[in-house]
Amino acid sequence: MSILPNQGNEKITVPDLMQRKALGAANSANKKITCLTAYDYPTARLLDEAGVDVVLVGDSVAMVALGYESTLPLTLEEALHHTKAVRRGVKRALLVTDMPYGSYHGDLHESLRNAMRFVKEAGAEAVKVEGGERRLELIARLTEAEIPVMGHIGLTPQSVNALGGYRVQGKTPGTAEQLLRDARSVEAAGAFAIVLEAIPRELAAEITRAVRIPTIGIGAGPDCDGQVLVLHDMLGLTFQDAPKFARRYTNVGDMISNAVREYCADVQNGAFPTDAESYHSPESLKGRKTIPIAR
Ligand code: KIV
Repeated sequence: MSILPNQGNEKITVPDLMQRKALGAANSANKKITCLTAYDYPTARLLDEAGVDVVLVGDSVAMVALGYESTLPLTLEEALHHTKAVRRGVKRALLVTDMPYGSYHGDLHESLRNAMRFVKEAGAEAVKVEGGERRLELIARLTEAEIPVMGHIGLTPQSVNALGGYRVQGKTPGTAEQLLRDARSVEAAGAFAIVLEAIPRELAAEITRAVRIPTIGIGAGPDCDGQVLVLHDMLGLTFQDAPKFARRYTNVGDMISNAVREYCADVQNGAFPTDAESYHSPESLKGRKTIPIAR
């Protein structure tokens, strides 16, 4: 069977994305990969219909949609629940889901079983795991079991305690070298793509040149093969200051607040609902006498 690159509106697959990188080397007009997070059915559907290539059920759901302080408390069951909702909204994009902290850090068999649940029960087409060299065995094992894996290196939010905060990574020669090794390991283990988070633009460009799999940047500059953002950051639907790379395309938070204030005022002053927004009894029932209830 030959694998042809996606020509238009058809389903995006793992081979399509890899092919885009391979073709990109020879063709600068080749399109960059677009990726956004989604955690529920309506946003997943909107993203898919707007033409995004990859929908990621990020473990950022923990902070952005569930109100946790970090991504660490997210459970496997919560991640499965959100992935199932997103699955119902996505037809064309590739659906990737984050394995939550603790679901792939212990026994390899258990990690594999957990990853399979995302595929079998929730309909994910690939999983993402954080970490470089130290995930070599895991990535190889998942790939061997036909589960496509997206790597994630640089600022890995599940390592927030070990890293001592959410900081730009790879700013010293030693850490930059390590990230280059991490990227090469993730590729060698069989990952089909790799997220580069919060690293210097120059290092991201070097990694992008060094690996044959697509790099998807977030806070890693414009030279990656694609970009990812947390949807709620770009929509203005978060409550803390967004990092400088998270361009705000609109302010849905303000739109929601204004709409809710208007609704409350309309209810209070009788402007909602109107007669046109009410159901009416049929003519035959109009003028009907109320039947007294016998006591
Ligand atoms: O959890 C997430 O949303 C992510 C992206 C920021 C890459 O991992």
